[in-house]
Amino acid sequence: MTFKRMIGRISRTMQRTGSATHPCPGLGAEPIPDLLRLACEIEALAPNFAVQILGTLKRGLEPDASEFDHYLAAEALCTAVYPKYKFSEYARLLLEDDEFLAYYARIMDPGNWHSLDRKYTLRELLKLLAHLGGDVAECGVYKGASAYLMCRALESSPALVHLFDSFEGLAEPLPIDGPYWQRGALTTSEDVLHDTLREFANYRVYKGWIPERFAEVADRSFRLVHIDVDLYEPTLASLTFFYPRLLAGGIALLDDYGFKTCPGAKWAADEFFAAKPERIAMLPTGQAFVIKR
Ligand SMILES: C[S@@+](CC[C@H](N)C(=O)[O-])C[C@H]1O[C@@H](n2cnc3c(N)ncnc32)[C@H](O)[C@@H]1O
Repeated sequence: MTFKRMIGRISRTMQRTGSATHPCPGLGAEPIPDLLRLACEIEALAPNFAVQILGTLKRGLEPDASEFDHYLAAEALCTAVYPKYKFSEYARLLLEDDEFLAYYARIMDPGNWHSLDRKYTLRELLKLLAHLGGDVAECGVYKGASAYLMCRALESSPALVHLFDSFEGLAEPLPIDGPYWQRGALTTSEDVLHDTLREFANYRVYKGWIPERFAEVADRSFRLVHIDVDLYEPTLASLTFFYPRLLAGGIALLDDYGFKTCPGAKWAADEFFAAKPERIAMLPTGQAFVIKR
């Protein structure tokens, strides 16, 4: 029996017993509760899968379901509503790292887990570079979530973290940057950054439009530069300045390279490295990195 017929039957019973609530579009004047109307609407949208979708949701919510059951239910729901998205493997240890999850939840906007994997990648790459010495730089700092990891990684060394941001968000995007970003997006204040980094003394902030203040670190060398400015012009300017100052074995980590929302950032990196000996490796997180020879 379809939901619609089932609802029709329930509605008639409700009318007889006087327990009616709201009318359901498509079912005439018959009144039905919101939940049944929702089921009816889901069936109209996915006639072949409605029962399966709701059954999966129910299984996923059952209190005695195992973690694996929850995972399978979440994957099935995701596949039903967004088949393009490919659920990744069960039981990743990243999701068991309570300390890392707590750091992320503390600094990022509530409910926004979108860059968890990218932050984790940054933290792990910083570990690999500890033997190199040299400073770390970030172009595009925002509220300091990635800067926090850099300060933590360098806290027992004499090296410094150099942080460059307009604190006025993005400049005017070029046509090459596509339609996603607008001038002023991602604006925050320097005070928010200092608050995020309040437990550290090993960082310097350079407020201004990239590359205006790069000259102030011209005599430093770097183990890592994190470039996270979303657009073509500041990505190219950041690579142009920092690449020659990276130590051999150091890394340029490009946060925006693998996102179709940031075509200009990818274009800038491809253009910059076209004539260089290094190759760009893109990660499934959307980041890309280059190891300096
Ligand atoms: C995506 S946010 C950075 C996020 C940060 N790296 C993190 O992981 O938390 C991008 C930042 O780049 C800055 N930005 C973008 N274009 C810039 C430019 N031309 N000059 C200076 N800052 C810029 C913005 O102000 C914004 O804070």
